Amino acid sequence: MTCQTILFVILAFLSIVNANLEQVTDEELEKLIGNEKFVIALFRSETCSECDELEAQLSSIREDLVDSLNAWVVKAVASQLKTNFTATNNPAKPLVVYFRHGIPMLYDGPLNDEVMIDTFVQNQESGVTHLNDDSFEHLTQAASGATTGDWFVMFYRDDCDPCLKFLAKWEYIATQLKGRINLAKVNIMADGISTGSRFFVEQVPTYLFFRQGKVYQYSLDNYETQAFKDFALGWYKNAPSKSVPVPKTPFDELVDRSVFVLKENPLILPVAGGALLLILIVTLIKSLKGTKPEKTTKAKKNTKKAD
Ligand SMILES: *[C@@H]1O[C@H](CO)[C@@H](O)[C@H](O)[C@H]1NC(C)=O
Repeated sequence: MTCQTILFVILAFLSIVNANLEQVTDEELEKLIGNEKFVIALFRSETCSECDELEAQLSSIREDLVDSLNAWVVKAVASQLKTNFTATNNPAKPLVVYFRHGIPMLYDGPLNDEVMIDTFVQNQESGVTHLNDDSFEHLTQAASGATTGDWFVMFYRDDCDPCLKFLAKWEYIATQLKGRINLAKVNIMADGISTGSRFFVEQVPTYLFFRQGKVYQYSLDNYETQAFKDFALGWYKNAPSKSVPVPKTPFDELVDRSVFVLKENPLILPVAGGALLLILIVTLIKSLKGTKPEKTTKAKKNTKKAD
């Protein structure tokens, strides 16, 4: 063998090795997600030809991604984490998830080198705005229908598993509507309680599209990226519309939050009632036992107040 052939064999060997991505355990992956700016993870099963193809594709653009983003490109085989990023559980189907400062985006586009690289490079920040009771009206101008453009908002709750699993796809849909439609999310069991009540959101997830003072509900039974995209870009016209309710006053918000707490914790009323009764009884006993006249008057006053 000449020197050239040896070199050729070595190079060929290296390129085969390079066709595979570095494999990480779930624990390692969680560390990467938590510590690294950009992580691109392929979730795959052990043997599946679609996975092999996707892995070969990612391997071929790995160097570009390292150059342009300094990204980690890894694979996780038969990972428990995979179900975090998809609401449709198909164990065989490989997923590509792009983490930007820990925020996942499920890549749902064509398997094309250029499109993939572009999508990753052009979406280095989350494309979904987190709105809450304080910021919603200010940022969307939903009621006035003014200048901030159209908004497509997902209402969800922390205890809704399918909602949380859909957020990675919502991020991808945001990349597809970037520059045309603003995408947002509102957590109606945390800082968006009053906003949820303003739009009568009772079930989650609920998707509302706000445009020029009108609100349209996405109520199709289709959770594909394309369906959301089509809806926001024109299909909403076929959906029934309502005028956007006026923003809530701070007093309304307080009421909404109290009602929410009571609804979520049906035991509060009896417990609070019980506590109040106990306080009354204790006060009463104290006032009866009271030796010094001064204290008695005080206790009596308290009892009157509590009444
Ligand atoms: C996966 O989901 C679980 C349950 O919702 C959560 O505790 C965990 O932090 C998630 N892991 C990642 C890496 O997103």
